[in-house]
Amino acid sequence: MSNIQVNLANRSYQVLIGSGKINYLPEFLSNKNYSKIIILTDENVAKLYLNSLISIVKSTKIAFHSIISKAGEGAKSFANLEEISEKILQYEIDRHSLIIAFGGGVIGDLSGFLASILLRGIDFIQVPTTLLAAVDSSVGGKTAINSKFGKNLIGSFYQPKLVICDLDFLSTLPKRELKAGYAEVVKSALIKDKNFFEFLEANAEKKFYSQTSNANSTQIDIEFLTTIISKSCQIKADIVSLDETEQGQRALLNFGHSFAHIFETETNYSNEMLHGEAVSIGIMMALEMSKNFGFITKDEIERISNHFKKIALPILPKEIRFNWNIKNLSVHLYKDKKNENKNLTFILLKKIGEAIIQKSVSYDDFLLAINKYL
Ligand SMILES: NC(=O)c1ccc[n+]([C@@H]2O[C@H](COP(=O)([O-])OP(=O)(O)OC[C@H]3O[C@@H](n4cnc5c(N)ncnc54)[C@H](O)[C@@H]3O)[C@@H](O)[C@H]2O)c1
Repeated sequence: MSNIQVNLANRSYQVLIGSGKINYLPEFLSNKNYSKIIILTDENVAKLYLNSLISIVKSTKIAFHSIISKAGEGAKSFANLEEISEKILQYEIDRHSLIIAFGGGVIGDLSGFLASILLRGIDFIQVPTTLLAAVDSSVGGKTAINSKFGKNLIGSFYQPKLVICDLDFLSTLPKRELKAGYAEVVKSALIKDKNFFEFLEANAEKKFYSQTSNANSTQIDIEFLTTIISKSCQIKADIVSLDETEQGQRALLNFGHSFAHIFETETNYSNEMLHGEAVSIGIMMALEMSKNFGFITKDEIERISNHFKKIALPILPKEIRFNWNIKNLSVHLYKDKKNENKNLTFILLKKIGEAIIQKSVSYDDFLLAINKYL
């Protein structure tokens, strides 16, 4: 078991990682003076785990309510934000109330944004239940909902007070979701830590992608899971501690994401392409662009694509849908919030373990990279 500290002066917090960690919740709550707790979860997580979380919260004797949102990316909408805000306000929260985000990245992003705007800001904690949320979205304080103009365009930087990553919750995660979360683990290694990438190459296939008879579930080695979550969270915590609001280095965490968001927008944030699947495809395009700029070598790209293939993560948009409209994809590109005044900015890889921010990328550079994989 290992804990990570996110150092942000008076907004610092811990990320607890390990089996059974949710049992620490009463101790954390006993040191605070919360007047009321709102547990926000989605319908899938609620069916599996809401009762067990409720029994832990009940033991603290703090008044609580639970709210069950619909599941999926569609929950990060204005309509859902409004509906849930009204429900929470109906429960007469005050400034000493706490929201517990209990679910994947969707619930985490939505709960964090709600916490940042309700009564001009109340506390929240993250209890991630997907690998993606555990390794990425629960840490760092980016909160958001989507707009018809693009993904995560309405949001805030707002840090949780604690992240409890209890590995026991991950046991029911569908295999496809588990693999999608793993794409963010590879991203973390690629941008900052070559040794970590080599560790993944050596271990992931046998420890992670075990051939089980049940196509929907993966038995994942707990020690391996703890290592990859801790390493990824440490990489993120180090970056966020230096650049909380993405004035510079934090943008490195977006490696592969500018391409990924284009495909997610084109597929309407639907189940057709999961965020992590868009990320593995986006990483391949960002690698191609990196090579075209004279950075990473062809051999390194092959090494990375081989790794994705071993985990059965998509590397080509074709694996998701046969035909893509490049005009539509380009429109989505220019709506990404990371592009300033039509100048394109991409995160590129100099080599495995070292990423850079590349400004003033041209539309032709973009086309060259995307067309290689379309
Ligand atoms: N804030 C950030 O820094 C950040 C970073 C990366 C991604 N994100 C966001 O995260 C979101 C994606 O998160 P996600 O991949 O966790 O998706 P998700 O929250 O939609 O969860 C995926 C699916 O798994 C189900 N599920 C969750 N936990 C489960 C469990 N333990 N067992 C069985 N089913 C379970 C959910 O109900 C859902 O159907 C995107 O909206 C993305 O933009 C945010």
